[in-house]
Amino acid sequence: MDRKDEHNTIDGIDSVETMDDMTFVLFGASGDLAKRKIYPALYNLFIEGKMPSSLSVVGLGRRKYSQEDFHSIIKESLESFSRRDVDSSHLDEFLESFRYFIFDAMEPQSYQDLKAFIEEREAEKSIPENRLFYLSVAPSLVEPITESLHKSGMTELDGWKKLIVEKPFGSDLHSARHLNQELTKVFDEEEIFRIDHYLGKPMVQNLESLIRPNPILKSLWNHEQIASVQITASETVGVGTRAGYYDKSGAIRDMVQNHLLQLVMMTALHHPEKLSAKQIEEKKTKIMEALRPIDKDDVATHVVRGQYEAGEMDAQAVVGYKDEKDVEETSNNDTYFAARLYIDNEYWKGIPFYIRTGKRMEKKSTRIIIEFKNEVQEADSQGAMSNLLIIEINPNESVGLRINLKDDGNEKFEPAYINFSKNLDQQPEAYENLLNDAMAGNSTYFAHWNEVELSWKWIQPILEAFEADELPLHGYNAGSRGPEAAEKLLNEDGFTWWEV
Ligand code: BG6
Repeated sequence: MDRKDEHNTIDGIDSVETMDDMTFVLFGASGDLAKRKIYPALYNLFIEGKMPSSLSVVGLGRRKYSQEDFHSIIKESLESFSRRDVDSSHLDEFLESFRYFIFDAMEPQSYQDLKAFIEEREAEKSIPENRLFYLSVAPSLVEPITESLHKSGMTELDGWKKLIVEKPFGSDLHSARHLNQELTKVFDEEEIFRIDHYLGKPMVQNLESLIRPNPILKSLWNHEQIASVQITASETVGVGTRAGYYDKSGAIRDMVQNHLLQLVMMTALHHPEKLSAKQIEEKKTKIMEALRPIDKDDVATHVVRGQYEAGEMDAQAVVGYKDEKDVEETSNNDTYFAARLYIDNEYWKGIPFYIRTGKRMEKKSTRIIIEFKNEVQEADSQGAMSNLLIIEINPNESVGLRINLKDDGNEKFEPAYINFSKNLDQQPEAYENLLNDAMAGNSTYFAHWNEVELSWKWIQPILEAFEADELPLHGYNAGSRGPEAAEKLLNEDGFTWWEV
């Protein structure tokens, strides 16, 4: 367990616990993720006093930047992407921790030079040998970098070591197992922090404690009351400039294996007591073990795959997937995925979970809807609809309840919403939560190996059915709600996707 103590904060922002002094080695320091997410997250943590008192950040990249160039890149990234305005009176102090180091990941000498550089900074700043290695790099580099870190002796330390890796973690069950085997030759499972940025989202983190302090919800949260669960992650963006990666991944690897299955696990966590990080991990593993497998021959019955065609977004014509830059004209890659899942445990037995995700959909929305059983006698004649608990994760963060109310003089019920929305300006970004946790050694909101392996195991027959072209690839217009077949999937069970 890392040391935690009091720490000064800036401008009266509430005091927070801090973590050990450390070196933060960032591979991919000039990359997009670093600029959009990592520097802004570190800056906001710094402003909130959630940083070690002595920190050395070593940014690695092939480009020949000077220290001044590097500091300018960070400053620009903060100006463009930080949720807080950059406060010039604190910027120099923040940047003082950052050094750039020109580095070639495939070159053994680079590792020796890096080791010497890190040690020099550790001595200069009196930092113990606590090293966090953040691999914000192409997936193909994760394995060779980890192996070379080990060979160079950089991971033989008096203090602790940690590894942060981004998704994708493998591209199927076999490659994920192989990658994990290689990483665990150098880092223990407790030292590996696999980022799934959905787990950093504040509303997803709220799921863990939603039921416990709310007896009303607790009493409803069981299979006597719940009819179905719907999880949606729809996006308006298309493939953009990422075809090289996305055309091989599809929605199934890009969104389902990780983000959507993590949302399933977080929704299905059922615990009236406060749990430790370890207990949460065990519960999530149990949920994945209870997720009913879909055999390859049954995939077409429970899964819908789709691909966007030309359409309109915000009254602008947009091209179909096959006409996007760098996409093969004959591509049968999925940009839409919907499925029906069952968790065969005592809480969720018999309750369908419907999940869907798609690019170029009508609106950007990540949300979870719990639909309650509707036993109202006059439901049909007077329009009473199922009660819904609506948890919006993105772009808004809110919790809402849909109830039936009669308007004066109206014979029919109208849906009414009780809604609580969070003030987004004050919400930390997912990466702030995740980096803070990784630096402090709290692994609650990271994807543990058991979860990742079981997710791939569940996905594998579906991947195989896709690869064997065993189910139709439904077209849907850009800007629409996705393929008709996804609607039918729910209609078969008497449900419909709620577009509330
Ligand atoms: C990423 C996927 O992991 O998540 C992207 O690679 C996707 O394709 C993104 O657009 C969605 O994240 P968010 O936070 O915008 O819902």
